[in-house]
Amino acid sequence: MTATAAPSTSPAPSKPSWDKGLANTIAAETEMSFIDGAKGILEYVGIEIDSLARNSTFEETVFLLWNRRLPKRDELAAFEASLRAEYGLPSEMDDFIRAIPKTATPMHALRTMISALGTLDPEADDDSLEANQRKALKLVAKTPALIANFDRHRSGKPLAKPDASQNIAGSFLTMLTGQKPTDAMNRALDVCLILHADHGLNASTFAARVTIATLSDMYSAMTTAVGTLKGPLHGGANEEVMVMLNEIGSIDRVDAYIRAKLAKKDLVMGFGHRVYKTVDPRATYLKTFSKQVASDTGNMKLYELSHAIEQLMAAEVGPKGIWPNVDFYSATTYHSLGLKLDLFTPMFAMSRMSGWSGHCIEQLRDNRLIRPMASYVGPHGVAYVLMASR
Ligand code: ACO
Repeated sequence: MTATAAPSTSPAPSKPSWDKGLANTIAAETEMSFIDGAKGILEYVGIEIDSLARNSTFEETVFLLWNRRLPKRDELAAFEASLRAEYGLPSEMDDFIRAIPKTATPMHALRTMISALGTLDPEADDDSLEANQRKALKLVAKTPALIANFDRHRSGKPLAKPDASQNIAGSFLTMLTGQKPTDAMNRALDVCLILHADHGLNASTFAARVTIATLSDMYSAMTTAVGTLKGPLHGGANEEVMVMLNEIGSIDRVDAYIRAKLAKKDLVMGFGHRVYKTVDPRATYLKTFSKQVASDTGNMKLYELSHAIEQLMAAEVGPKGIWPNVDFYSATTYHSLGLKLDLFTPMFAMSRMSGWSGHCIEQLRDNRLIRPMASYVGPHGVAYVLMASR
């Protein structure tokens, strides 16, 4: 075969640059969230996160992210109704959930259940905008039932149906505990869901966009995203924070524990961020909020322990730009709400499903395969050695 010369019209390839961790690479455009890491600003569609946490609901926030504007009253009611109509799981999922080993961790289970949902949706491979919007809605609406029912299954309880008379937070907590939550508990979870809904091109969102950019499908992209969120450098950090708080146990042990970690150059979970070099604005809000929730639920010792860690870290590594991130005070909040430690990251996924799916739809609007390069650092010209001679 003769090699064909590249057509002379091909643009000259630009010189690629090496950017470890893609820290200085812009790989997507988004209209959903804006982050200023130096000033500690996060906005959804231009609205400051603090204002949304104070005034909005998770459902309204999802409408905002997906439609780039706040809904009018009747639009919000219609949107909430469409979500509630999709809360239920396909009946086949019951057997599927029961087939997952009770010893599996909830994030492994969630990744597997999201993937299984894709096998049950006849529209799974329809990549039209309308079908993808319907899938996004289903994924946000059904994820709470997946998480709650896996927890019920592993606890030996019968599976529960969602409660379409409640918002997502209320229906989830009711399935999980068997009791309707108080308004304060409902609001606490709702606020956490608002704060976690979207965050630029974070690792799991990037992973979702890479998957959808191959023209795979929404369920595959969400499965990828859940797997990526699970890692302790990303969403899994909130569980690690709780492990650390349990290990420290009391305020008098904070100093020795944290100093020993820093001396060994170990990570203190819930601190540091790729983009924020000041306090994560979600952490600022959650700090005040978690204090209130902790006080209401008799968990002030835990809040005070977290606060003592924050103060020591501010003095020791604040000048290096290492400050609390969203995971730090979300651990205290979730614990105060009575949630099991290994459900903290699934809570994050439950909310971020809205951002992930919104990003996938954005990606497909002006799609190009996402395919960076690797710098080969191995040998060249190595002779193949026959098996007998090795
Ligand atoms: N504790 C102690 N030191 C830290 C921490 C931390 N949590 N985070 C960063 N540092 C130090 C690093 O050791 C490094 O020190 P050096 O310059 O002396 O080598 C310096 O700060 C820069 O850190 P990088 O690892 O280069 O920062 P990067 O941007 O790659 O990582 C990350 C960001 C992964 C979030 C990191 O800060 C971390 O691992 N934090 C703990 C895990 C965590 O809380 N993750 C949740 C992030 S928020 C989210 O995903 C929702």
